[in-house]
Amino acid sequence: MNQSFKLLSAVSLAISLLACNSSTTEKTTPAAGDSTSVKKTDSPESLDSSGFNGTIDGKKTALYKLTNHKGMTVAMTNYGGRIVGLWVPDKSGNATDVVIGINSAKGYQEATEAYLGATIGRYGNRIAKAKFKLDGKEYTLAANNGPNSLHGGKKGFQYVVWDAVQPNDSTLELSYTSPDMEEGFPGALKVKVTYSVTSDNALKIDYTATTDKPTIVNLTNHAYFNLNGEGSGDILGQSAQIYADKYTPVDSTLIPTGKLEPVAGTPFDFTKATAIGARIGADNEQLKFGKGYDHNFVLNGTKGAYGLTHAATFTGDQSGIVMDIYTQEPGLQFYSGNFNEGKNTLKSGAKDIHRGAFCAETQHFPDSPNQPAFPSTELKPGQTYHTVSYYKFSAK
Ligand code: BGC
Repeated sequence: MNQSFKLLSAVSLAISLLACNSSTTEKTTPAAGDSTSVKKTDSPESLDSSGFNGTIDGKKTALYKLTNHKGMTVAMTNYGGRIVGLWVPDKSGNATDVVIGINSAKGYQEATEAYLGATIGRYGNRIAKAKFKLDGKEYTLAANNGPNSLHGGKKGFQYVVWDAVQPNDSTLELSYTSPDMEEGFPGALKVKVTYSVTSDNALKIDYTATTDKPTIVNLTNHAYFNLNGEGSGDILGQSAQIYADKYTPVDSTLIPTGKLEPVAGTPFDFTKATAIGARIGADNEQLKFGKGYDHNFVLNGTKGAYGLTHAATFTGDQSGIVMDIYTQEPGLQFYSGNFNEGKNTLKSGAKDIHRGAFCAETQHFPDSPNQPAFPSTELKPGQTYHTVSYYKFSAK
């Protein structure tokens, strides 16, 4: 039985109903949106919300700040459900912004990297040849990444304006209904993603979705992390430990071959904490295909906090900031920012340099709809897709 297709428990439903009762929507004012005026973002207060106040597709966009009043703040916009910045204390207690982002909605519209910090859907990562079959019928998607479909198509969830409700200081509820056949996917998909900052300095991401026709779904978040702080240089000295004995090797278009290969004896062995850059330049066909790390790791299911799988531990070598990831998902896409080339100006004024940040996307495996042996990503009417991931921060 697929873990992520569990019915919502009565308890979590009751909690979200209670939260809705006390909800308020943040006020918005007409657009400012100038992506050229960059400011220092060494504190959450220094991030100006005016660049986010405007209208896109007839819907209001805004910036929201979530905080636990214990040193952690996450800035988000409902434009693409994006994490704009995430501040946590480093080993000396200084607030450090560990998620790279841009300082306006317009900046995100114009960025050459579409997915910066975004909530990704309907399908995180690739679907081979932009086609899949469901109940005997073939569906064709937009081929927006070579021959393949990537991250939900041309106008995936990263470019939609989500309905946003902030029921309290630490929580943001984002909702979006994707119409039947949007980007070629069948079924009207009702999605709700709740982002919250917990009292123990974790970002909790809770995804739910329902459909009115059989469909496929694989939601994730595309935050780019630099644990030494946005603009601090590349991430090659930061360490990664991924609790996965296997990964899914890919072909030259980054579609899994279908095999689950052991990481042992390869540059993909992160079972012990290892610097991201230690083997990234190794003579290895998989690293050539990915231009570095851009692969799905098959999580061992190691028991971790919150009753979830411990997916990974990343550590900033200068900041001492540790990020532990816990999830219900079977896979983790580890992407070392290989395609970023410094073309976009970040909120600190720095550029999004090559390997200046990494992604660690909790998800089902890429191309699952075409790979019967992979855990299923199908969702049927009457079922609720529900999956939770935590990104927990500490410092040492
Ligand atoms: C993918 C990369 C892709 C990137 C786009 C990642 O999730 O694995 O191949 O280039 O997203 O931002």
